[in-house]
Amino acid sequence: QIKVIIDCDPGIDDAAALAIALTNPKIDVQLITTVAGNVTVDKTTNNALKLVHFFDATVPVAIGAATPLLKPFEDAARIHGESGMPGYDFGDLYGTPIDKDAVTAMYDVLMASSEAITLIPTGAYTNIALLLRLHPEVTPKIKRIVAMGGSITRGNMTSTAEFNVFTDPHAAEIMYNAGIPVTMIGLDITLKALITPSTLAKLPELNEAGKMLRALITHYNDGGEEGVPMHDVNTIFYLLHPEAIETKPYWIDVVTEGPAIGTTVADIRGAYHGGKTNVEVAIDIDAAAFNEFMLLEVSEMDK
Ligand code: BDR
Ligand code: CA
Repeated sequence: QIKVIIDCDPGIDDAAALAIALTNPKIDVQLITTVAGNVTVDKTTNNALKLVHFFDATVPVAIGAATPLLKPFEDAARIHGESGMPGYDFGDLYGTPIDKDAVTAMYDVLMASSEAITLIPTGAYTNIALLLRLHPEVTPKIKRIVAMGGSITRGNMTSTAEFNVFTDPHAAEIMYNAGIPVTMIGLDITLKALITPSTLAKLPELNEAGKMLRALITHYNDGGEEGVPMHDVNTIFYLLHPEAIETKPYWIDVVTEGPAIGTTVADIRGAYHGGKTNVEVAIDIDAAAFNEFMLLEVSEMDK
């Protein structure tokens, strides 16, 4: 089993990523932490708790940062709806967050673990940056970071910036330069691996989980006729099927001010950083395999 901590802002694609991580027997989710991003942190926390309850899981959920480190907070409710998880009635009965903030909870889980743990951020990296700054001694306990966010070719928030990095660029800079192996699962692949209308149409036929995910995705204001991106699901896909994603090491700098704020700049020619690298960037993906993965994972959900 791969031990992971998922740091997220559900969010429709976060919900799909959590659904797979919570139900796939190869993944052991030790902790879910939440952050402000798609919607405010009280909402992302409730959404995470609703999913844990839906899948009868017992994973603790800890509340994280309500705002980015320095930049003012801007949500993405226009993409994910006011609640962040619209279109499905999860009911009013679900758990409560644990009595520890996200950074303390991550610290405790990491320090108590005999083996190093993989961090999977699918929202802004605020909690992770705080963890690394406040408790640098956890570094050896982090096996690697597989992070949705960034891009070396395009943006989805501005013309060059991706939403998670745009939300908290200072946190991204800290995370990329912490000396921990980081894989950037960015728009370069997530916009290639669209979930096609035919995959989407099959989801509700599979089970209740498929109905739930289809309902959420119907309200997702991203993508077009060719299909919808499920950005955050690509992290879990990579964890389980690294052979389906091609990566390349680059030095990544984060723009932290001005019109290009939140842009991740790859030193493609190696001219600025002398060929040194700090991030493994996902550059290509088998989109058909990603669609098959989505269907197979949902079909095996016991719900
Ligand atoms: C990222 O931004 C969020 O809106 C999505 O949940 C995903 O994590 C895509 O840019
Ligand atoms: Ca997200």
